[in-house]
Amino acid sequence: MALANSYYQNLSGSYLFSEIARRVNAFVADNPDKKVIRLGIGDVTSPLPPSVIAALRKAVDEQATAGGFRGYGPEQGYDFLRAAIVRDCFAGLGIGPDEVFVSDGAKCDLGNFQELFDAGCRVAITDPVYPVYADSNVMAGRGKARKDGKFEGMIYLPCTAENGFVPALPPERPDLVYLCYPNNPTGTVLTREQLKTWVDYARANNSVILYDAAYEAFISTPGIPRSIYEIPGAHEVAVEFRSYSKTAGFTGLRCGYVVVPTALKVQGAGAELLLRELWLRRQTTKYNGCPYIVQRGAEAVHSPAGKAETGAIIAKYMANARLIRTGFASVGLEVYGGVDAPYLWLRLPRGLGSWDFFDKLLTGANIVGTPGAGFGPSGEGYFRLTGFNTPENTLEAVERLKGFKI
Ligand code: MLT
Repeated sequence: MALANSYYQNLSGSYLFSEIARRVNAFVADNPDKKVIRLGIGDVTSPLPPSVIAALRKAVDEQATAGGFRGYGPEQGYDFLRAAIVRDCFAGLGIGPDEVFVSDGAKCDLGNFQELFDAGCRVAITDPVYPVYADSNVMAGRGKARKDGKFEGMIYLPCTAENGFVPALPPERPDLVYLCYPNNPTGTVLTREQLKTWVDYARANNSVILYDAAYEAFISTPGIPRSIYEIPGAHEVAVEFRSYSKTAGFTGLRCGYVVVPTALKVQGAGAELLLRELWLRRQTTKYNGCPYIVQRGAEAVHSPAGKAETGAIIAKYMANARLIRTGFASVGLEVYGGVDAPYLWLRLPRGLGSWDFFDKLLTGANIVGTPGAGFGPSGEGYFRLTGFNTPENTLEAVERLKGFKI
């Protein structure tokens, strides 16, 4: 019998959102008459913007012509999209198109990127955290589930109401640090000064920051950094991950990208290596590129019309977030996030477990959220909701809270 990758046995349970889907599906099967409102997984509800649809249609039609048909594309993305990304998102930040790698989404990139590092690298994660960072490193042998909900071998950076959800610098030096801002799940952000502290730390300690900026389009507070490359020196220590999923409704279509600056070097056997070259090697070997049609759709997001349309959709989601914030505050809960991010992070009354609250909210108000404990031990006592449902459903969810006893 072939030997399995035994590191998979170091994971804890099933993937968070699969477990939630399983529980919700069981509830729906038992209660077919109940209308369940989903504020759990961050999946979008607005249709794709008109300029994206027009670009997709045009690209589909091109495929019917000998001149327009495309076979294999460049693994790292078509030049037209890489140029549009640089122009629209990184102008003046010293990033070039050859440092941008287009993909089928940030989740895959975030899961795959750890492959470029030695199995013995120490990994630091914030707690709570988007589970993909931790789980993908455990699959590669960099951690083992313990009974306390942590992974042995990983460095945890607690983010709670007590420290304003700002991670303190680690007590021991990590090789890799995952940061996500605006944050999933807490919905909080870092100021420029706070982010600079991390860039300076990484430079002083030869650590690499894997910066997940999937939610940057939701920032509205002036001065909050949208890219880590706004911080001087970040090009030598940081990789940035971006996504069209929440920004432009691509959760089903799939498109994202990674920025790997040429200035970022890592230690190889006997020589320093460019991390960018390693990612290029990895992608050209294992990936055939995001479909041309999808990349044309993504290009349209960066057009003036696309920006106006996606801006309006994001504004709608953020209005939902405001509704949820007010609704849950009115039943006596402390609510964080939801200002520069689509996620809201509720602090539960002392002693109420987050999976217990999940069951209570599902059975009592037929609302689905995500238990904080699913994001790490420091998430216990918290609960995540999202602004991604429709305004009608969000309003209905908030109305249902009126008769709801916590
Ligand atoms: C979430 O709900 O945290 C996200 O939708 C998951 C993801 O983007 O993969």
